[in-house]
Amino acid sequence: MKLQAIPAGIVSLADHEAHARTTLDANAWAYFSGGAADELTLRANARAWAHIGLLPRVLRPLAGGHTRVRLLGRELTHPILLAPVAWQRLAHPDGERASAIAAAAQQAGLVLSTQSSTPMEDVAALVRGTPDHGPLWFQLYLQPDRSGTLELVRRAEAAGYEALVLTVDAPVHGARDRERRQGFRLPPGVRAVHLPDRPSNAPPLQPGQSALFDGLLQTAPTWDDVAWLQTVTRLPVLIKGVLHPQDARQAASLQLAGVIVSNHGGRTLDTTATTAWALPRMADAVQTDLPLLVDGGIRRGTDVLKAIALGASAVLVGRPIVFGLANAGAQGVAHVLRLLRDELEIAMALSGCRTLADAGTDILLQGTSENYSFRSNK
Ligand code: FNR
Ligand code: LAC
Repeated sequence: MKLQAIPAGIVSLADHEAHARTTLDANAWAYFSGGAADELTLRANARAWAHIGLLPRVLRPLAGGHTRVRLLGRELTHPILLAPVAWQRLAHPDGERASAIAAAAQQAGLVLSTQSSTPMEDVAALVRGTPDHGPLWFQLYLQPDRSGTLELVRRAEAAGYEALVLTVDAPVHGARDRERRQGFRLPPGVRAVHLPDRPSNAPPLQPGQSALFDGLLQTAPTWDDVAWLQTVTRLPVLIKGVLHPQDARQAASLQLAGVIVSNHGGRTLDTTATTAWALPRMADAVQTDLPLLVDGGIRRGTDVLKAIALGASAVLVGRPIVFGLANAGAQGVAHVLRLLRDELEIAMALSGCRTLADAGTDILLQGTSENYSFRSNK
C-alpha cells in the first residue's frame, strides 16, 4: 500500500467530494455519488442537518471534555462509524483495506458490507491488529437461501466481527436513474467477493407474473427472518434502514441490539423522510434504551452533534469515506475521519457541551419547515 498525500486545499468533507469528482471516472462517480430517481432524498438528508439551527450555551466549564460514548457494551473514543459501502476497490485499488487501516488508526467503528470487494477476514485482521481500534461490525444482506446467509454469519463470527447489521431497506435496488444513464457496470477485477455468482434457483416466471413480486421479493427479509437471525448467532443484531416509529417499536420488542435510522443515503426509495426528521420521532416512539444510530448526509461535526442531541448514540458516514479513499487511499479516509472528529470537538466546545451527554434538544432551534423540525423537549 503506497502512502498518498492529501491533495492541497482540502479542508472539509465537501472539498473531498469536489476533488473526488476529478479522481473517479464517470462510471464510478455515478455509482458512488448517485441516489435513487430524482435524488431528492439524497440532497434533503444533508440539507436537513444543515437547517437545524444551534442555540449555543456559553461560559460553561469545558476543560476535561471528551467525545466518548458507550455503545453495545464498549466505550468508543468518538461516535463516528464508517457506513457499509459496497465495492470499495472501484474507488481505489486499496479499497476496503485502506478503509480498515484508516478506521482503526482513527478509532472509528467499521461496518463492512456484504458486498465488500475484499475478503472479510483480511479486513478484520487489519482492524484487529491495530491497538485501540473501534468496533468491527459486519453488514448482512439476507441471501436467497438461509444456508447462504448462515455461511456469511459463521465467517463473520470466526473472523472476529462483533455485531451483525441486517440491512432491511433494500430488498430491491431503487430506481437508479443516474447509474442507468451512465450505463454503470463493474470493471473487471472488482466484485462482491463473498457472493459466489450462483445461478438462480428461482422457478421461471409465468405469463403475467411480476419479476419483482413473484421473483426477487419471494426471498425478501421479513420480521420473521430478523427473529431467526437472532436465534442462530451469538452476535448482537442491529437492523439498518428504518424510518418509521412503529418499526422502531417492533425492533425494541424483539430486543435488537440497535436500530440504524437510515434511508440508504437516498439510494433506495426517493422522497422518503430525511433521517434528521425521523430520528427524534423514533427516539420518542421507543422510550427504551434501544440504541439508535443514524446516517445520511452527515458532512460536518455540527451534524454529528445535532444527531446526538436528537437521540442518536452514534452516526455513520457513507459517501465522504469513499471520496477520501478515491483522493488519497488510507490517508484520505483517515483525513475525512480526522476532519469530522476535530469539527465535532469544536462544535461541542462552542455550544457549551463538555461531553456528548450534555448535548440535548435545548441546544437546537426549531427548523423552518416541517421536514426540518424536531421535538423540543427531550
Ligand atoms: C451504500 N450503502 C450500503 N448500505 C448497506 O447496508 N450495504 C451496502 O452494501 C451499501 N452500499 C452502498 C454503496 C454506496 C456507493 C453508497 C453511497 C451507500 C448505504 C450506506 O451504508 C449509508 O446508509 C449511506 O451511504 C449514508 O448516507 P451518506 O453518508 O452517504 O449520505
Ligand atoms: C448500494 C447497495 C450495494 O447502495 O446497497 O449500492
